[in-house]
This record gives sequence, C-alpha cells and structure tokens, in this order.
Amino acid sequence: MNFDIIKLNETESTNTYAKALLKSGEPSMPFTLVYTENQTKGRGRLGREWLSTQGDTLCMSLIAPYPYNPAVTLISAVGVYHALREITDADIKIKWPNDLIIDNKKICGILTESTDKYAVIGIGINLNTTEFPKEIAHKATSLKIITGTRYNTEETAKCVTKNIISVLTNTKGFLTEALLKEYTALCANIGIEIHFKGQTGIAVGIAPDGSLIAKTKNGNEFINSGEVTVSGIY
Ligand code: BTN
Repeated sequence: MNFDIIKLNETESTNTYAKALLKSGEPSMPFTLVYTENQTKGRGRLGREWLSTQGDTLCMSLIAPYPYNPAVTLISAVGVYHALREITDADIKIKWPNDLIIDNKKICGILTESTDKYAVIGIGINLNTTEFPKEIAHKATSLKIITGTRYNTEETAKCVTKNIISVLTNTKGFLTEALLKEYTALCANIGIEIHFKGQTGIAVGIAPDGSLIAKTKNGNEFINSGEVTVSGIY
C-alpha cells in the first residue's frame, strides 16, 4: 500500500502538524506519514508532555482514514510491535493500552487523536537515545541501549507505517477476535497486580471494547483507556 510521506526537519508536534494539514484539505492519499527526529513540544496521553531527545527519537504521525475509536490505538500498538520485531529480536511487550516496553521500560508511546473522518496516530519511538532526561530515566529505554545498534529513522518510520496499515486493513479498524487474542498474548499487565482509580486488582484480560479487565475484591472492573493510567510496571 502506498502512502504520502512528509519529512520535517523540526516541528512542535507531528500530531499538531498532521491535524493542521487535515484542516487545510483532503489528503491526496488515504494514508500520510508525517515524521521528524526533532520534535520540540511533543504531546502525550492524558494531557502530558512527551519528552524526546533531539536527533535520536522517531516522532511520527500516521493519518489514517478511520474515524477514531479506542480500537485504533490498540491495533496500532500491535502494528508497531510487528514493525519493531522486523528490526530487532528484543523481547517487546505492550503495556496496556498503548505503550511498548522492553525489560519493563518504555520504548514507545502512542497518542491517537482524530477528526471526523481521520485518525491521527501519533507514535514516539526511542530509537537511538543513549541518555534520557532525569525525570524519565528510570522508566525509559531505547532500541540502541538494548541492542547496541543505531537505527535509521526514515526506514523505521516506513516500516512502522507499512505494518500499521496492514493491521488496520486486516481488522478494518475493529478489535477482531484474532487481534484481541494477539494483543492479550503481548500484554505485560495480564496476571500482575495493577493500581487504578485508587483501587488494586489483578489484570485478567482485555474486553471486546479494549478496556482492561481487573479482578478486584468487589468483582471485575473495566478500565477505560481514556480515563486512567494503570501502574504496576512503572
Ligand atoms: C504517551 O506515551 O503518552 C504518548 C506519546 C506520544 C508521542 C508521539 S511523538 C509523535 C506524536 N506527536 C506528538 O506530539 N505526540 C505523538
């Protein structure tokens, strides 16, 4: 599947850029990749900032012709997983809902935003970082730290795009049974104690709408990705 590619030398946020692009008119291709190695004001989930090291982090947004639903983010996490497994043997897991982790440390975060017709899937991957800002150093790692190899940003961005398009196309943007099964097998939270909304439970599965199911002393709770973070890994 072909897609448009926009490489930016520097931008505040590829998600912000992609949304402005959508405001200016219809994309000429169904999928558009916007990427940079130098993002100055990256945004994370739940209004947080996303810190990246200039020149070493792949910051990308994929404009995809799917109206937003929480499934798109979970599906994209599986697409990123497939892409990273093409370029490394590292043992990668998904921390629900959409962080990719190695050795219990974050290697990738995903922030999906949307317009009426399009999802803007924003992905930050710690590719070549060797030193993280001190506020995230305890919970972040990079492919370079894990494997000792330097990764090419453009090739990785294209590989991630190709893999996300493939999973989105196969699932039509929905959490199919097969995708849920694959996601659950990759999910690092399953079977461990988690903390959410002041409660404690054991993560026992993923519901068909993408919620994390936690077994608590009051019964099963369904945790919606839009509302909370889950701790237990970091
Ligand atoms: C998170 O872990 O909270 C999500 C982080 C998402 C970061 C990416 S980097 C590219 C895109 N542009 C942004 O401003 N954010 C996303």
